[in-house]
Amino acid sequence: MNKSMWMICPIALAFLMLVGCDNSSSTSSSSATQPTTGGTSSSGKKLTVGFAQTGAESGWRTANTDSIKSEAEKRGIELKFADAQQKQENQVKAMRNFIAQKVDVIMVAPIVKTGWTPVFKEAKAAGIPVIVSDRRPDVTDDLYVTFIGSDFVEEGRRAGKWLAENCDGKAQIAELQGTVGADPAIDRKKGFEEEIAKHPGMKIIKSQSGNFTRAEGKQVMEAFLKSPEGSQITALFAHNDDMALGAIQAIEEAGKQPGKDILIVSIDGVRGAFEAMSQGKLNCTVECNPLLGPALFDAVEAVRAGKPLPKRIVSEEGVFTQKEAAAALPNRKY
Ligand code: AHR
Repeated sequence: MNKSMWMICPIALAFLMLVGCDNSSSTSSSSATQPTTGGTSSSGKKLTVGFAQTGAESGWRTANTDSIKSEAEKRGIELKFADAQQKQENQVKAMRNFIAQKVDVIMVAPIVKTGWTPVFKEAKAAGIPVIVSDRRPDVTDDLYVTFIGSDFVEEGRRAGKWLAENCDGKAQIAELQGTVGADPAIDRKKGFEEEIAKHPGMKIIKSQSGNFTRAEGKQVMEAFLKSPEGSQITALFAHNDDMALGAIQAIEEAGKQPGKDILIVSIDGVRGAFEAMSQGKLNCTVECNPLLGPALFDAVEAVRAGKPLPKRIVSEEGVFTQKEAAAALPNRKY
């Protein structure tokens, strides 16, 4: 598959455009049902949205933040932005501040899956709808309006499938996992393992978190290569491009050729990955769309207007290999 589609799936869009249907599955409060005109409510007050972002750990995250900030500005919506610097307690604190400030809607990209129920309940009790962006928390459906983002299990499957097809079903794999406890780290691992289980010759021999950052990806890959199993590694699965780019440096410094001695597949589709693929150092990137701003603010405006939303809106994404990299590079948006 070599498509680049930056759209939310058509079924979800159709839902977003529905007007005046029952909204029984949403958590919209009375304040969330006032009709809106662009970034204002019927009272003429500027719409205010609080967004608790995970941090700035990767190229993907930077593109995601830019997309959200620029979309709010375009629509005349006041965005209160909190960078949690990779700490769940900061995100929870930010959500509590947004509740105290009585924002109209809260958006959050939960850094880890667990531990969210109390603050989501507080938002519900305050009548503030919560929209989940990017990563799904372990909370009951009634505590949020909609979850907008990628299918991480499918991304893991796509990475595993690409590798199986390109290693003749035989590989000694090193895995760089994302942040421990994060939805994409759990689900990408699950999808990847599901695929490689179909091939008895494919085995994960080293696996550790690189926390979704380039620096830790490099550090952990260095340790993998120096370990007793280091010389047996024939493939790398990195849960994101930034860690793969760090690992590429480590592989080169160890005197090996990334992309040849060690096949590398990662996830995101950031510009740096396309550059590495053009240079033959990365073999494949599975796309994960960070440009969620338009879909998120469509959801904000829908909830404010009392329109129904599906509980899940999934981004549509593709898979890119070295063959497509050079041609696709000029059109990458991030
Ligand atoms: O949640 C999405 C993941 O978070 C991206 O794959 C990664 O780059 C980011 O840090």
